[in-house]
Amino acid sequence: MNYHIVTYGCQMNLHESEKIAGILRSCGYECESGLEEADVVVFNTCCIRENAENHAFGNIGSLKKLKKSNPSLIIAVGGCMAQEAGKAAWLKSKFPFIDILFGTHNLPELGELIERKRREKKTIISLKEERVATEDGVVPVRTSYPNAWVNIMYGCNNFCSYCIVPYVRGREKSRRPEDILKEVSSLVEEGYKEITLLGQNVNSYSGEGGMRFPELLEKAAEIEGDFRLRFMTSHPKDFSAELVQVIKRNPKICRQLHLPAQSGSNRILSLMNRRYTRETYLSEIALLRREVPDCEVTTDLIVGFPTETEEDFRETLSLVDAADFSSAFTFVYSPREGTKAAVMEGQIAEETQKDRIMRLVERVNARTREKSARYVGREVELLCEDFDKKKDVYLGRDVYGRMGYFKSEKNRIGDFVTIRVTEANGISLYGEAVN
Ligand code: 5AD
Ligand code: SF4
Repeated sequence: MNYHIVTYGCQMNLHESEKIAGILRSCGYECESGLEEADVVVFNTCCIRENAENHAFGNIGSLKKLKKSNPSLIIAVGGCMAQEAGKAAWLKSKFPFIDILFGTHNLPELGELIERKRREKKTIISLKEERVATEDGVVPVRTSYPNAWVNIMYGCNNFCSYCIVPYVRGREKSRRPEDILKEVSSLVEEGYKEITLLGQNVNSYSGEGGMRFPELLEKAAEIEGDFRLRFMTSHPKDFSAELVQVIKRNPKICRQLHLPAQSGSNRILSLMNRRYTRETYLSEIALLRREVPDCEVTTDLIVGFPTETEEDFRETLSLVDAADFSSAFTFVYSPREGTKAAVMEGQIAEETQKDRIMRLVERVNARTREKSARYVGREVELLCEDFDKKKDVYLGRDVYGRMGYFKSEKNRIGDFVTIRVTEANGISLYGEAVN
């Protein structure tokens, strides 16, 4: 029997889809297939911004025909969107052909829900307010060799005023350090070369025995083997000098910190409930660069937050230069029902948002291009992660997260490959393998 999983959103969701695949395999669905050939289709949704949601609605809606021609097809919808207040009932009424609706905290039960669905006719809705256990016993089907993701914690306590995550993912729950370190060790033994520790806010990790994130990161970096270690995402309010020292001491930790700034304006940061200022943000990355001079900083930025003036926006633009970001994910503010910001006065007009995002993207890209251009003529070590059949090139990432492309006669996936850069284009580097 075949399965097909459609994933929306971030790395956290991509990893959850690997767990969903693990559950489906244990239910007898052996092969991943295209949509048309599938016996079960799972939508792993994201609700962080409106466009991710709309995208999912469109895709789910288009399955009506397929279900009609194949009534035994099981359609399951899970992830953050199903967990939103009142959304599951709404989805059931809008798309009555959905068989199973399950929340983010119900993922480990998906197997049982499928079994139940095989016996019962009606739509099954299974939602839990909070995650019960941090160990779900699910063995993921990893699909991104040589990279592997490891959850270190779930949920978020921060309640940034624009963000729906704390409502749909619940309060922070940290996994036990020994479980995390055991998972990292076995992945390294299995040959994975880049491990990313995942959490909504890894810096507030609080493990059994009082273990904090810097200690956990260092213990993971001390595991024997030839691998790189990344982590995401960090919150600037929990950034620490200790974390900087751990990065400095451990060459396995990638020289790239993803530290979402969201805005460069103190007034907006305060309305966003971010609990740091532009000045403290800049002093954190100054400390990082003093101690680890080759470390690059990437970020997330939002434009068009309620009441954002041209002056506030220019502060975000100027932060791109002041912080010297090597790249940034840029977002247009999207009101999310149930959050504080959604009911704030002063929502920004769409044209203004569009104008600002274009100007911001332009500023970020100019900096990224300029940084990439400096690579021409240099040697860079890539971890080769894929082969692009169309372009006939292998691709990989350097320790800063930059994508590099090269040609090779033999399969290099999973190798650390040094290339001499001959051309840089935006965030991508092109070169010839020298090893
Ligand atoms: N509108 C726009 N962007 C958002 N993000 C989170 N919530 C919203 C929202 N309502 C962005 C933040 C966060 C990233 C994962 O998504 O920048 O860091
Ligand atoms: Fe959302 Fe803020 Fe938590 Fe990040 S830290 S998930 S932006 S509430």
